[in-house]
Amino acid sequence: MRIGMLTGGGDCPGLNAVIRAVVRSGIDGYGDQFVGFRDGWRGLLEDSYIDLDIESTRGILPRGGTILGSSRTNPYKREGGVERVRETLAGLELDGLIAIGGEDTLGAANKLYEDGVNVIGVPKTIDNDLGATDVTFGFDTALQIATEAIDRLHTTAESHHRILVVEVMGRHAGWIALHAGVAGGADVILIPEIPFDIEEVCRLVRRRHERGRPFSIVVAAEGATPKAGTMEVLTGAVDEFGHPRLGGIGTRLEHEIEKRTGYETRATVLGHVQRGGTPTAFDRVLATRLGLAAIKAVHDGAWGMMASLHGNEITLVTLADAVAELRQVPIEEYERYGVLFG
Ligand code: F6P
Repeated sequence: MRIGMLTGGGDCPGLNAVIRAVVRSGIDGYGDQFVGFRDGWRGLLEDSYIDLDIESTRGILPRGGTILGSSRTNPYKREGGVERVRETLAGLELDGLIAIGGEDTLGAANKLYEDGVNVIGVPKTIDNDLGATDVTFGFDTALQIATEAIDRLHTTAESHHRILVVEVMGRHAGWIALHAGVAGGADVILIPEIPFDIEEVCRLVRRRHERGRPFSIVVAAEGATPKAGTMEVLTGAVDEFGHPRLGGIGTRLEHEIEKRTGYETRATVLGHVQRGGTPTAFDRVLATRLGLAAIKAVHDGAWGMMASLHGNEITLVTLADAVAELRQVPIEEYERYGVLFG
């Protein structure tokens, strides 16, 4: 078969492992030919692609990012976008497409499938927020990076008797913040799922001082928001999928905690460091397993499906189910860790 592949949305450690698994298995196992579209859906709209074969995908397994490039292009937000996608696929005589992405890329993949395009999805995102899979690859790597950063900030917070705020990614889900915060022994963890009370944050920080620990680590998800009317926040520009550019809550907390407690407070924004670099072994294996399942799904004619992890098994779910619901941190899970704060 002739198959196209693309990576869309924010890049993520493990994307190259999927590409490699698909290409090697497709060529050696089935005699397939591959085309890789550049920069997500933009490649299909602009006829921009490279040929993928075993040689061109050698050595990419441990590399972060994506050899195909990525973008947040939405074919449904471009004039004649869907027609362009169809024309490109027909022009290259492709039998179908493997789309590797998060809720936005897979959302577009699902619509295209409903519009008659042969698509298989592979879930990726450091945010770990896709409902139809237990874990997404990239999350483990981002978590490791965030935890290491918290460990490093701990020693300097202690030396200087400071409150250090660490802003981590995760968009509208608090998985990175919660898990990195718990793994790094943070004193306060703020997640988007539960609006925070700035006075409660300050109370926990003050209590540590009173207990003879004059430093604290506050982990804030970029999507964390204060309870209505308690603190001013900033809003960012919106992308083609309607998502605001997040970031800035760390700096707001820095000012607010220092103002309210009188303790020196500094913010560190981890940002794209969490998305870059080599994937962990866990992410490489998960990405490889998903890639192998995706190419098998292509040959089984299971169009409109996405490879996903359930327990320890890789299964197929419909793209429609995959994008139906975001997986956010359940409140009970957050509250379970409450005794560790402060
Ligand atoms: O979805 C992954 C992610 O890194 C989010 O955690 C973050 O909000 C967003 O992408 C940032 O995207 P960009 O790099 O396009 O600003």
